[in-house]
Amino acid sequence: MANTSDSISHRHDHHDWDSDEYVSNWAKGQDPKEKDRHAAFTLLADTIPFSKDRPIRILDLGAGYGALTQFLLNRFPNATAICQDGSKEMAKLGAERMRNLTGRFEYVLCDFARAGWNEKLKGSFEAVVSSIAIHNVREPKIIEAIYHDVYPLVKTGGCFLNFDRSRPPWEDQMMWLRATGFKRVKIFWQGESRAVFGGFKDT
Ligand SMILES: C[S@@+](CC[C@H](N)C(=O)[O-])C[C@H]1O[C@@H](n2cnc3c(N)ncnc32)[C@H](O)[C@@H]1O
Repeated sequence: MANTSDSISHRHDHHDWDSDEYVSNWAKGQDPKEKDRHAAFTLLADTIPFSKDRPIRILDLGAGYGALTQFLLNRFPNATAICQDGSKEMAKLGAERMRNLTGRFEYVLCDFARAGWNEKLKGSFEAVVSSIAIHNVREPKIIEAIYHDVYPLVKTGGCFLNFDRSRPPWEDQMMWLRATGFKRVKIFWQGESRAVFGGFKDT
């Protein structure tokens, strides 16, 4: 992995998200599988506790090329999104792939495994979401810390919804979400190895 001073090192990750070739191959491999995520994305969109016409702000953690952001911006036609990611190459690809949504999203590059990452994100969000990204960190303590850092980014009345793998076990992840202050934490949908889970920031 290129680990220059200006590249973000995903220290806990076996992927090479800093390589344009790796990212391009990953995206090519993912494209034919996108339809398999439609049901989970639909459920996630329908769990966001705002009507579809509201101008909500969405934060997509580890947004990659923006599959979930794109889906949500189409479902919420007045919404805008911040796509957070650690990979410049993913951000470049996302900007190309979401050209038709230019002006409604912006990438912010930072490493959510490093303390202080949430300070790079300005303001708060009605919906903080993530798809198949946070598990990349692997270390349970860091994932717990990420959830802790997500809480202040969520507006009161908003939610954090994560579509991710069962690493660490969902029970642990839900326990951390409850401990950080999220209410009505639950698994909204569960497949063989992935689930949509999260909670709400109640008044
Ligand atoms: C499997 S891809 C998923 C991308 C997108 N969310 C999707 O569902 O198509 C994982 C993404 O998480 C990002 N990522 C992994 N570790 C990260 C970290 N520590 N900080 C920020 N982004 C990270 C990668 O750069 C990559 O774009």
